[in-house]
Amino acid sequence: MKNTASETTSGTPHAAPAMPSRRGFLASSALLGATLFSPLRAVAASPAAAPVATAAVDKAVKTGLPQRVTLTCSADMAHAVSATWRAAGPLQSPQGQIAPLTAGPGFDAAAQSFPAEPFTFETESGETTYQYSLTFANLTADTQYCFRVGDGRSWSEWNTFQTALDKPKPFSFLYFGDVQTDIRAQCSRAVRTAFRHAPDARFMVCAGDLVNRGHDDNLWGEFSDAFSFIAATVPCLPTPGNHDTKRPEKAPEPEAPYTAAPAYHAHFHLPANGPKNAQILNGEAYYADCQGLRVISINSNVFDDDAPTNAAHKQAWDAQLAWLEEVLANNPNRWTVVTHHHPIYSTSKGRDNAGLRSLVRPLYDKYKVDLVLQGHDHSYGRTHKLAGDQIVDPAAPGTIYIVSVCGPKMYPFKPKFESLMAATASEKQLFQVIDVDGDTLSYKSRSIDGQLVDAFQLKKDATGASTYLPTGKA
Ligand SMILES: [Fe+2]
Repeated sequence: MKNTASETTSGTPHAAPAMPSRRGFLASSALLGATLFSPLRAVAASPAAAPVATAAVDKAVKTGLPQRVTLTCSADMAHAVSATWRAAGPLQSPQGQIAPLTAGPGFDAAAQSFPAEPFTFETESGETTYQYSLTFANLTADTQYCFRVGDGRSWSEWNTFQTALDKPKPFSFLYFGDVQTDIRAQCSRAVRTAFRHAPDARFMVCAGDLVNRGHDDNLWGEFSDAFSFIAATVPCLPTPGNHDTKRPEKAPEPEAPYTAAPAYHAHFHLPANGPKNAQILNGEAYYADCQGLRVISINSNVFDDDAPTNAAHKQAWDAQLAWLEEVLANNPNRWTVVTHHHPIYSTSKGRDNAGLRSLVRPLYDKYKVDLVLQGHDHSYGRTHKLAGDQIVDPAAPGTIYIVSVCGPKMYPFKPKFESLMAATASEKQLFQVIDVDGDTLSYKSRSIDGQLVDAFQLKKDATGASTYLPTGKA
């Protein structure tokens, strides 16, 4: 992975959100203040002023209308969830409201308000975007909620979602490989079919390359269109791919070219529980716990070079590796899933991420990671249970590695490690539903026509040891 350019941006990660320019922000605030807080009664009493005031109010209402509403997982999915959205201009009072779902109307009387933070960045054409983010915290576990976002005047619809239980309970989640291309036109089919198969999914893992050019705001708009209301219903759990790091060609060299472009962080407000001494990986290296399962995202772009390229890269490299071991070692959950973009066992001709494999595979063996969910190779390959780069007995300790693809960009399947694969497919857009039910994890991969492509189960005994049961094959 070599990025030679940087996105022109005034944005920063959510930990220190950037504001629009002070001049622009104050000018906008003056307009909003004049429109949002003018007594409407006075407007009605003054016929001459009414058309002007009404136009200004209309403009403010239109500016505030939320777009691209996206839920993202929190570290503790039983008690918190995060959301982002887009407005056409700066908002004076960005906020969200949340209330338990009731069978009838009137639920909003119990709504609690949460303030939101701005996150701005400039697109290649020089336009300033106005993204907002917040975390709904202190929620009740295993509860259906309604939420909306806006500025106190213009609101999104009330979307619904459900918090996780704070202990093991059966649930499903979705896993998508690279979305990346023809996102609105063709990936939408995969996402919507997947949702029909798992409408109660607690979250959806996107294994990187969410867009083809990480800096391209139009592509992020396509992403939002493809996921539509599903993004506001099922929290997203993304990991950054190599294409998500891309900055505009003529922009200066970024400080950390292996990190996701600002647009990624504008659209996903993810847990800040990554490596403490590599804050630059916030929202890229993180973990989330859900009903007895831990999902860990690492940014595999960090390890894509043969070795760190400078001191800052070395720090991110070392910190992410140490952090990965720490969150694997201190994991109270029964099930462990890791997601990163580059595969440990590639499925494409001529590809092999040997450096990544030598760094992290020993940790997956040592801490008995159950699944590794990946992308990058634009075909499908799912291994037998492996340890030490070898197929092991179904009841022996080991890990199952999967490469999948969601979008229509396809590479020929021709891996170096074909002998390790239990199921393969190519030229198919796929989605995966993974059910976790106590001691049993059931995995199903389907093509977007709904056909079963691959399936297996893992069953655990009282000691936590798993047995692999193949139940279907490509
Ligand atoms: Fe890709």
